[in-house]
Amino acid sequence: MNKSKNTDMEKKINNLLRKMTIEEKIGQLCQFVVDRSTGPEVGKNCDVADKIRKGKAGSILNVTGVKNIRKYQEIAVKESRLGIPLIFGFDVIHGYKTIFPVPLAMASSWDLEAIEKASRVAAIEASAAGLDWTFTPMVDIARDPRWGRIVEGAGEDPHLGSLIAKAQVKGFQGDKLDSPDCVMACAKHYIAYGAVRAGKDYDNVDVSERELNEVYLPPFKAALDAGAGSLMAAFNDVNGIPMHGNRKLIRELLFKKLKYDGLIVSDWNAIDEMIPHGYAENRNHAALLSLNAGVDMDMVSGIYESELPGLVKEGKIPVALINEAVKRVLRAKFRVGLFDNPFIHCNEDREKLNILSKYHRESTRDVARKSMVLLKNESHHLPLKNTLKTIAIIGPLADSKLDMLGSWYAEGEAKDVVTILEGIKNAVSPSTQVLYSEGCKIEGDNTDGFIPAIKIASKADIIIAVLGEAGGMSGEAHSRGSLAIPGRQNELLAELKKTGKPIVLVLCNGRPLTINWAKNNIDAILEIWFPGTEAGNAVADVLFGKYNPSGKLPVTFPYSLGQIPIYHYHRKSGRPFQAENPYSIKYIDMPSEPLYPFGYGLSYTIFEYSDIILNSDKITMGETLKTSITVVNTGPYNGRETVQLYLEDVAASVAQPVKKLIGFKQVDIKSRESETVEFSIKTTDMAFLNEHMKLVTEKGLFRLYIGTNSENLKEATFMLM
Ligand code: GLC
Repeated sequence: MNKSKNTDMEKKINNLLRKMTIEEKIGQLCQFVVDRSTGPEVGKNCDVADKIRKGKAGSILNVTGVKNIRKYQEIAVKESRLGIPLIFGFDVIHGYKTIFPVPLAMASSWDLEAIEKASRVAAIEASAAGLDWTFTPMVDIARDPRWGRIVEGAGEDPHLGSLIAKAQVKGFQGDKLDSPDCVMACAKHYIAYGAVRAGKDYDNVDVSERELNEVYLPPFKAALDAGAGSLMAAFNDVNGIPMHGNRKLIRELLFKKLKYDGLIVSDWNAIDEMIPHGYAENRNHAALLSLNAGVDMDMVSGIYESELPGLVKEGKIPVALINEAVKRVLRAKFRVGLFDNPFIHCNEDREKLNILSKYHRESTRDVARKSMVLLKNESHHLPLKNTLKTIAIIGPLADSKLDMLGSWYAEGEAKDVVTILEGIKNAVSPSTQVLYSEGCKIEGDNTDGFIPAIKIASKADIIIAVLGEAGGMSGEAHSRGSLAIPGRQNELLAELKKTGKPIVLVLCNGRPLTINWAKNNIDAILEIWFPGTEAGNAVADVLFGKYNPSGKLPVTFPYSLGQIPIYHYHRKSGRPFQAENPYSIKYIDMPSEPLYPFGYGLSYTIFEYSDIILNSDKITMGETLKTSITVVNTGPYNGRETVQLYLEDVAASVAQPVKKLIGFKQVDIKSRESETVEFSIKTTDMAFLNEHMKLVTEKGLFRLYIGTNSENLKEATFMLM
């Protein structure tokens, strides 16, 4: 919220501050949970109404619905001494009631408009349900698929992640944050949470200053530049300093250097957790560390409530520091419009009209189609004809409702979900027979279901196997030590293969999986992640060719667990991989390449690329290089291609990545037609952090890469003079 100061608002805040007692000020820094916990059981069952009445509560999380929210807001506004409104927060991550594909799926669309639209719909529904604040976007760059929360973000790339963060903030906060259909965004989890050791949630983070600034900070900066009203601190430490006590990265970097004036909220009970972190000696010390670091609001630990009054009394915390935190809380409430109208989001007519509307269902179906990634289609079995005589749909996810919502599905309900089986039945002709068998469970060793599954498979013209992870096998507190499709599903797939029938694997997962056998043995593979409320209809749209898949992977699929970490944006080495040279980067027992690279995704049609054209092969500092490439759709279907632009600084004062994504364009090209795609590259796009962490652009040779994914690229070189 790095806006120019709104002096009228600041005056009102200062006037209010002068009226507040120290207890009321500290009250604004306390957030309480009602109804349901989204973390270890703490802070529940306290008498929240009494705290609100006494001015000891600034915010409530996890209450939804106009009636419930109004009840608490009435107490705050009418029964507390100063009538300061509460701000109500909730995790509306990828939809409120109409659930969109999980964020990693939406990132696969690379469609910033679609992602903004999804956030807009989520904001309309959340604000109609009384909410003021969503704990979204999760902008943690993630390169380790073992980490369960990789599903909640935009994948491994800082450039793509930054653009998506901006689109989400714009969608949630709209053009005017104090409009009734907007909610305040919260960029989380600050910072480098995606770098937890071995992908284990909540574990330590050791990261260089360079990686922190080049990889993990950019999406947060993009969110703040887009006006995100708040930020949430991360559970992890960074190099031994827990984020909730990290003065250097919060107060110094965010407030002083980036001039951020929005609200910093703790994560669930995380202030208290600095004690087991081995950083705070006790709750009193934790409160001191956290407020000094710049954490304004305490989510449910109760430490600010119990410890701050004494710390202020003993002069260990200056009132000025309390005032600064209170001002950031009050500023957020002013910006959301709560002081003008504490019931801005409490309108039961809007609640009835705007939730799970037909338009919203159409929106999530559209975004879901665009989020699917075609990984294989060698025999061109896809798209299917909807006049096929018999289709066998097999697998534990084929008729599952709840799993389609993925993790963090807010107030989404299984009953509203269209399953994949239902979606396919909706799409086929009356003459098509659709057979179904579960085959086996997602997890567990029971294979009793194999026989009935194989029986129906043998009767079919084609098998659609819907396999993968349960919706709850990713997300918070759900890291995995294996990337295999769980349970006996792989064996089921192998048994189905023995029938000799063509098979389409529809994959549901919240992280990259090592689907090596499937890649080598199955005719077609469609990655659908968890597509949300309209899952089945969106899958059918793609399977039957109503929508030609256009998704591209926002995260690398490793060939093996043993390759992790593996991602495209890695620095060069003195002995780069050379197939024939043993003295080069490689394993002796497996390939060094991933199973599927970043940016990978096929289409039902074929896109062919011309050579790159440059307006010059040399430019000077400050000039713009213009480049173009022609993409020809030589296949039989209209389709969308995401043309990706990567840059390599061949030699620099700090060795640079082999290539980094600096741009992309999505083009819709009709069959047999072509499109010329143009990019303009400024010398600022070539900048990097030098050894003193200063942004510089250096003269020298550059390579430009343009193509369909991070491996399959056309190349050109130019000199920066
Ligand atoms: C959880 C998550 C965070 C969420 C918060 C409130 O522990 O880490 O992402 O916003 O608590 O539910």
